Amino acid sequence: MINDILNQYKPVASEEVIHWEWVGGAEDFPGDAGACVKYKGLQVAVFNFTRIGKWYACQNLCPHKMEMVIARGMIGEAGGIPKVACPMHKQNFSLEDGSCMTTDLPALATFPVKVVDGQVFVGFNI
Ligand code: FES
Repeated sequence: MINDILNQYKPVASEEVIHWEWVGGAEDFPGDAGACVKYKGLQVAVFNFTRIGKWYACQNLCPHKMEMVIARGMIGEAGGIPKVACPMHKQNFSLEDGSCMTTDLPALATFPVKVVDGQVFVGFNI
């Protein structure tokens, strides 16, 4: 059951996108923080990393205790890699590829983000 939930989340590479889901205007997202959006039953954390001028998206589900909390994590950088710290137990995950930087937890699924004319889209392959 728990693995069924986790297995819903598969990373999507830019070249695999078959649908760009509009998730809001850029101004709807807080700067240097995350927000949760939903797509087909998935909870996706979208990060407007204003300090480095980039956007990221990944599963909102933390694989540690299976909590939907990643969007509420603090973002920053470690060794030049943008990362999010889960707010529950502070495990760090790369925003670039979702890999866990602090222990051997499964990687977060990551999704491409694009901003066009101030509108934010997340790429999916389902
Ligand atoms: S629930 Fe995320 S680190 Fe424990």
